[in-house]
This record gives sequence, structure tokens and C-alpha cells, in this order.
Amino acid sequence: MHGLTTLYICMGSACHQRRGHRLLPALEALIRQHGLAGRLVLKGAFCLDNCQRGCSIKCGDQVFTGLNEQNVAGLFEREILPRCQSN
Ligand code: FES
Repeated sequence: MHGLTTLYICMGSACHQRRGHRLLPALEALIRQHGLAGRLVLKGAFCLDNCQRGCSIKCGDQVFTGLNEQNVAGLFEREILPRCQSN
């Protein structure tokens, strides 16, 4: 039985300016693609305190930075997917 994993997407102004909101549809597509609907929940977060490092997301207590539409899939498969499977 798998638990619920929450992924926070930074909606702070610095990340927003770097088009962080574009990560949302990309992550939604990845969730569908990996059959994680209902197991991985996306939530908006205020500034994740990593404004200098590019768009940020947070999973558990770890923050991942420097994300864009191109590299988010790789990060998702490397870091987020294993967390969902172990939850
Ligand atoms: S606005 Fe996203 S880390 Fe600060």
C-alpha cells in the first residue's frame, strides 16, 4: 500500500519570473505518465528560500533548484519517483 507524496512548487515571485509556473503542467503530465494520480499531489508553496538558484520544488525536506521544462523530467525520474515508490 502506497502513501501520499506531496510535491511543493514554488510560486514565489523570483521563481514565477523565471517561469516557474511552467513547471506545473510539465509535472502534471509526468504524474499522469507514471500513473501517480492520487499518490503524488502537487501544491503551491511560497518562496522556498532558494531564489538565487532558479525555479524550485520541494519534496519531503529536500529542495530541488534550477528547474525548467527541459530538466524537470530527469529530476522527476531520478528523485521524485523513488520517493513515491518508497512511500
Ligand atoms: S521565489 Fe522561489 S525560491 Fe524564492
